[in-house]
Amino acid sequence: MRTQVVIVGGGPSGLLLGQLLHRKGIDTVVLERQSRAHVLGRIRAGVLEVGFVNLMREAGVAERMDREGFVHHGTILAHGEEQIRISFEELIGRHVVVYGQTEVTHDLYEARDRVGGKSVFNAEGVTIHDADSDAPYVTYTANGTEHRIDCDYVAGCDGFHGVSRQTIPTGIRKEFEQVYPFGWLGLLSETPPVSDEVLYSLSDRGFALCSMRNATLSRYYIQCALSDKVADWSDDAFWAEFRQRLPRAVAERLVTGPSIEKSIAPLRSFVCEPMRWGRLFLCGDAAHIVPPTGAKGLNTAASDIHYLYHALVQVFESGETEGIERYSEQALARIWKTQRFSWWMTKLLHRFPEQSEFDLRIQRAELEFLRDSRDAQTVLAQNYVGLPY
Ligand code: FAD
Ligand code: DHB
Repeated sequence: MRTQVVIVGGGPSGLLLGQLLHRKGIDTVVLERQSRAHVLGRIRAGVLEVGFVNLMREAGVAERMDREGFVHHGTILAHGEEQIRISFEELIGRHVVVYGQTEVTHDLYEARDRVGGKSVFNAEGVTIHDADSDAPYVTYTANGTEHRIDCDYVAGCDGFHGVSRQTIPTGIRKEFEQVYPFGWLGLLSETPPVSDEVLYSLSDRGFALCSMRNATLSRYYIQCALSDKVADWSDDAFWAEFRQRLPRAVAERLVTGPSIEKSIAPLRSFVCEPMRWGRLFLCGDAAHIVPPTGAKGLNTAASDIHYLYHALVQVFESGETEGIERYSEQALARIWKTQRFSWWMTKLLHRFPEQSEFDLRIQRAELEFLRDSRDAQTVLAQNYVGLPY
């Protein structure tokens, strides 16, 4: 088989790229290791930058998001009993959209079905060959049969544990990593959200986050120990701990109920350089991970897709390779700024096991500075709604 671009990984990065390229008449095959139901069952991100929303519009898949997504004009940072509202609208005249990654992925698969895009699920042993030549190809096994796809380019959109990044020789690849000494335990419940806006809360017991998917579906998180397992946390234990980490005025409004999903994610900062090796491009979590405090993972994936999409259209339409050659540098310039912001938000809002009394005072001073300084709030708002592409 032959196609123009093999997309390894059928998560949001791969699907969005496929849809954008399809609109430009560029043929793709998506190879996904898991089943479709598995991919669609994952509960992850919820906050979308307008840059992401615009890409979904450009891909022609924004109709439901525009109808059902919630525009948020601000967010709240609480510490102890104090709440600091960051008004994106007032500070910089911009907003974010709350619409679940699960829904984004669902809409992208529906769109791919409508246009007859080829997707292979349960693709095992995906291997990328000759990426540094003019004739790359990808092999995989499906239903016990080995297949080969020849192509012009390979987009590695297969997440942190994928094969694409490992394809870049270790002598060329440099990885930067910081692991945090805690994880996030997330819970989804069919209860009305406790706050109209996303609320980040730092208490003496650690971090908590109040988010939502819609008027009757809440998404909440708490900082937990890395050794914790989901089975260690009954719903009752979660609610009891969560409640204690919120300002009393918020906790009093909290409506609890049975969880419909619970999961634990470790927190890490990670960047792989470069993001291109010959005709292979890394996108999204395959190339970088941010700690989730700042809601940047999916949004950073979208900026990669923006750059790669334009580079591929340029080369297929005119033969000009300038975009492809600049892809890694362009994507990384934005990624490192987003890494900085996510690292800063994480340090600002979590309790670290090794924090000294001095560190605690600095953390408090930073929050008080943010409360009192419109300039500091503006910097937060600019980063939160998304840096320009
Ligand atoms: P993935 O979603 O990981 O998709 C990669 C796909 O590749 C998967 O379907 C996988 O099965 C497939 N794959 C893997 N290996 C192979 C292989 N060898 N062959 C073929 N296929 C393969 N981001 C935000 O922007 N905002 C948020 O609010 C936010 N909140 C988050 C909350 C949590 C709890 C977590 C865990 C993440 C959050 N993120 C958030 C991050 C966001 O979910 C990720 O950045 C996003 O999923 C990245 O998309 P992706 O397509 O690059 O990778
Ligand atoms: C959500 C996740 C985040 O990481 C975040 O910072 C805000 C909201 C969410 O899942 O809704």
